[in-house]
This record gives sequence, structure tokens and C-alpha cells, in this order.
Amino acid sequence: MAYLYSCMTQIAIIGHGVVGQAIGAVLAAKVKAARVTAYDPVKASKPLGRVRRADSLAAAVKGASHIFICVPSYLKGKGIEGSAWRRLAKELARCSALDAVIVIKSTLVPGDAARLEALTNRRVVICPEFMAEGTAERDILKPHRVLVGGKDKNAVKSVIRIYRHWVPANRIIRMDAWSAQLAKLFANAMLAQRVSSINSMAALCELGGGNACVVSKAAGMDPRIGSMYLQTSVGFGGSCLEKDVRLLCALAQCVGLPEVARYWHAVIGQNDAQVRRVTRQISKMAGKGGRVAVLGLAFKPGVADVRNSAPLRIAEGLAKLGHPVVAHDPKVKEVKGVRMASVPSVAVRDAAAVVVLNEEPVYRALDWRRIAGHAARGAKVYASSLGIGRTASTQMETFILGGSCLG
Ligand code: UDX
Repeated sequence: MAYLYSCMTQIAIIGHGVVGQAIGAVLAAKVKAARVTAYDPVKASKPLGRVRRADSLAAAVKGASHIFICVPSYLKGKGIEGSAWRRLAKELARCSALDAVIVIKSTLVPGDAARLEALTNRRVVICPEFMAEGTAERDILKPHRVLVGGKDKNAVKSVIRIYRHWVPANRIIRMDAWSAQLAKLFANAMLAQRVSSINSMAALCELGGGNACVVSKAAGMDPRIGSMYLQTSVGFGGSCLEKDVRLLCALAQCVGLPEVARYWHAVIGQNDAQVRRVTRQISKMAGKGGRVAVLGLAFKPGVADVRNSAPLRIAEGLAKLGHPVVAHDPKVKEVKGVRMASVPSVAVRDAAAVVVLNEEPVYRALDWRRIAGHAARGAKVYASSLGIGRTASTQMETFILGGSCLG
């Protein structure tokens, strides 16, 4: 029976970005007899391994029993009410089989599943994606949990059957659609909250004394707290954390809970304050009009993504304050409006301040004495949490802001 089911499976992936590509590749590899076809409404999707490419949504969903929606979520709390989603829903209603199951991987607000069901007249199952950038396939292959939410029991079961090809039963949780969406928003909001919490300690340590890194370690050793997402930084960024906190706030406002919205909004407020605080500190270090070398521009190490990146926001803030900025990032080659250097030694040339804004391992391994030789005399170093400070030349004065983890 299971074999028969597999034979019949045709899966469409709509939206072939980071999530769509990763989930498509895993489905094609793990659900052996499935035919996986991808279509991206914005850019032509590349065929990847066993995933075929379709030129239109109609071609992608033709004969598909499951349609995985992996398009970007909408901000401003609009969700399914947004025009792009409405267009997509209309097309799905027109082109897909009546018994097709729409599987939502995109993050939407609770309530959107019912709205989409009404717009498409198809069964909708919410199966939020928890993958992080840079570890996409690994996160999908070995998920901590898979949430499958929906009101149609058979539709939910059919999605669980797909995931059971590679995910153990005890990692799959069945629930209602509302809870599945809320659980996703809550998870990212909690991660953001932890980063804001430790960064608030960094701000406190900076003015009141203490080492935020030690504070973080001490808190993290309590198994009820745990150590993950408690590393001081210049602020969280990326395409998901802030967006999901905002969606949670918008939802709370919508249902008439302004105090809940305010509670979560403070997480973003603290993050913005962290970005401003670090920008001010660096500006002070560099002196009036002083050149700044920014090492690390992506929103986190190991990725080329600068969307909502705290390091980029800081670089832009410094430029606005009149500092010439030259940046380097081993992954990021080009950013509009930012002068990029191909190697760190070029970025630091004549810099009054050298700032390491993400924990790229390449910066840890740099020969900081040599690097110091390129910077301006008496240049200062700021590192968010790298162990580089003590090896820098005596020419460079190291600033340990927020009691971060230097040395
Ligand atoms: C996140 C979630 O981790 C993932 O589950 C969800 O599906 C998508 O959003 P991602 O955006 O790739 O993934 O970033 P993540 O690795 O979680 O980091 C988010 C931000 O927090 C980064 O800017 C990172 O530098 C920062 N961070 C993380 C800290 O500042 N300190 C930490 O201790 C951890």
C-alpha cells in the first residue's frame, strides 16, 4: 500500500528560493517514487538534481497530489489578505486538482489557513519550516520536529506519510492549523528574545561593569535555560526573526491584545537599540570623520545574505555619521552603496577603527599583527565576540564592548 501511494505521488513546489530548493531536493531524494516539479513565480527556477522545472504554475501543479507553497511570507500582518497571495490562491483554484492538498511552508499568521482554504476551495495543511540559512538541507533532513496542522484528517495524514519517508514518527506532531502557525512564530520570537536578552546584558555590562560573556555562560549552564542563542552580538538579523516577531505583534493587535504586541515588540526595540549603541561606540572610536573597516557584513557568519543584517545597518549608520567605510566579508561580494574590499588587509588600510561585526572564523584566524600594520597609527579594534583582541599589535587599542568574549 505504501509502495502504491509512493507511485502516485506528484509533488509541486511553488517558490524555489532557499526553502523551496532545500525541501524540493529532500523530497526528490527521499520520496523515491515521487515526481517533484518546481515553479517560482518571480524568477526562473533552475532544475536541481531530481527536481524538474516548470515554466508555469499550471504546469507545476498539473496532476500534483501535494502542492508545497514556499513563497516569501508577507509582512505588515497582511498575510493572505495581500494581493500576491490572493493572485496565487486564485491560480491554485483554477489549475490544481480538486483533491490536491496545499502544504504551506511559508510563515503566515494564524487564521490564514482558513482564509486560503476558502479562496482555493482546496484542503490546506500547515507544515512550517524551521530551517536556518546555511544549514537548510541538514535541518530538513534531521528536523527537531515537524508540525503538521490542518482540519482535514486525511490531508494531514497524507502529509505525515510523505515526511515519514525520512522523519521518525516521534518527531512529527499533529495539531490544528492555528497552533502550527503560532508555534512557528513563537519559536522564532523566542530565539530573537534570547539574543535581545543577552545583548541587553552586554549594554548593562558596558556601562555598569561585568562581562556579558561570563553572564551568558553562567545563565546557559542552568539546564532550564540552556546556552543556545545567548551569544552577544551586534544584533540579530536575517529574513525571519524580526519578521516573525512583527507578525506575532500584528496578530496580537488584530485580536485586541495590545499588551502582548507591546511585549514582543520590545524584543525588536532592544535589537534596534543594540545596533544604534554599537554604531555610536564605533563612531566614537574612529573619531570625527575617521575611516572604519567593517569586517563581516552578512547577518550571520557563513552566509552571503545581508537582508536585515545588523552589521550592514551599522556600516550604513557609520556612513551617515560621516565615516568613510570599507567592508569585507568572505561570502558577500557586493552590496549596493557599500565599498567592499576583496581582502581584510585592504579593508583596514588607514582605518582609524577596525570592527569585526560577525564571528566569521576567517577573522579569528587572521594575523592581527600584520593587519595592524595596514591600519592607521593608534587604530582601535572592536570585535563583537571574537577571540582576537589580545593578539592585535600594541599599536591597536582593543575595545571590549559589552564585556564581549575577547581574548
Ligand atoms: C532563523 C531560525 O533559526 C530558523 O529556525 C527559521 O526557520 C528561520 O530563522 P536564520 O534566519 O537562518 O534562521 O538565522 P539564525 O541562525 O537563527 O540567526 C539569527 C540571527 O541571530 C543572526 O543574525 C545571528 O547572528 C543572531 N544570533 C544568533 C545572535 O546574535 N546570537 C546568538 O547566540 C545566536
